[in-house]
Amino acid sequence: MIEFLSLMYDNPKLIIETAALKENAVAWRSPSNIAIIKYWGKHGVQLPRNPSISFTLDQAYTDTKLAYRPKRGADEGIALDFFFHDEPNEAFRKKIVQFLDKITPIFPFLRQLEMTIHSSNSFPHSAGIASSASSMSALALCLCAMEDQFFGTLNNIEAFRKKASYVARLGSGSACRSIYEGLGLWGKTIEVEGSSDEFAVGYTAEVHEIFHTFQDTILIASKGEKSVSSRAGHALMEGNAYANPRYDQARRRLHTLLAALKTGDVETFGRITENEALTLHALMMTSNPPYILMRPNSLKMIELVQQFRKDQNVPVYFSLDAGPNLHLLYPETEKEQVMAFIQSELVPLCENGEYIADQVGKGPLEL
Ligand code: DP6
Repeated sequence: MIEFLSLMYDNPKLIIETAALKENAVAWRSPSNIAIIKYWGKHGVQLPRNPSISFTLDQAYTDTKLAYRPKRGADEGIALDFFFHDEPNEAFRKKIVQFLDKITPIFPFLRQLEMTIHSSNSFPHSAGIASSASSMSALALCLCAMEDQFFGTLNNIEAFRKKASYVARLGSGSACRSIYEGLGLWGKTIEVEGSSDEFAVGYTAEVHEIFHTFQDTILIASKGEKSVSSRAGHALMEGNAYANPRYDQARRRLHTLLAALKTGDVETFGRITENEALTLHALMMTSNPPYILMRPNSLKMIELVQQFRKDQNVPVYFSLDAGPNLHLLYPETEKEQVMAFIQSELVPLCENGEYIADQVGKGPLEL
């Protein structure tokens, strides 16, 4: 079923003169992100129930190359071949075709082309890392780059990013925040002028320098398939008794967090970060039906991190996405001490000893 979309970017004029069109390609690298205030619960067409804010990452990214040429047949459908790590992938192809079909009111030229996408992730495919943020933002950037190649309509960087963020959001909510360097904020809030439920905005000006080089070490507690997808998890928020208080809490926390980001108050930042991670998982455990995505080793690692922080007085805090893996967030100045602790105490608890050493990144890159 095709959902009804009323899109601010609907534009029936974006039709190309295919006779003059040559084969060409666009390619983007786009990073994943880790939310500090979490997006959990949505309504309408991919609109968030509360504002969220995340660090854009650096080492965990998706590379996507989209090659196109004019369609030879006359059919009106989306013509796409899809390769993931150079292998044809039918499951991903179907998902992307569905998505592209849904957004043809924004990019009507998609029906005029034969397209081939090659996509790959920098992190191991089975690492249990959420890849929708990096993959959907990379795809959205490619689509906007195509539009600009054809029509020259997005040569203003701000306009380009805004539309890419909007389109990424339609693919996966959290993806809209990956478009920006440093921090991305998504959701209308009186705290931030220009913020919107429809796209994310970059949030760097009011951030203390200690957060510009923050580290994120991602510890792979388990690589198994998640038992409940994010999509299903969001849907379960609709029947969750704690949903409304949670959305209010997120707004209040955002206020406190933004102040801490500004002043460089790492302790307040860390308290909110951990509380948000546990709140997210508490919401899963109080859904109907309830479910648990943390694994025994996630919990063991959480306890070790909290103990290490207390004993050594080192500001290191954990976060969790909708999965079992821990993100350890800490200032760059603490890197040596934290890495020594990770190596000796946490790596043995990671599946196959796997972890990803990441940090706050500069945002997407045109390839
Ligand atoms: C737990 O963005 O994956 O990572 O919009 O259905 O694609 P969809 O959901 P998704 O939700 C992930 C939420 C989260 C928290 C966050 O990133 O804010």
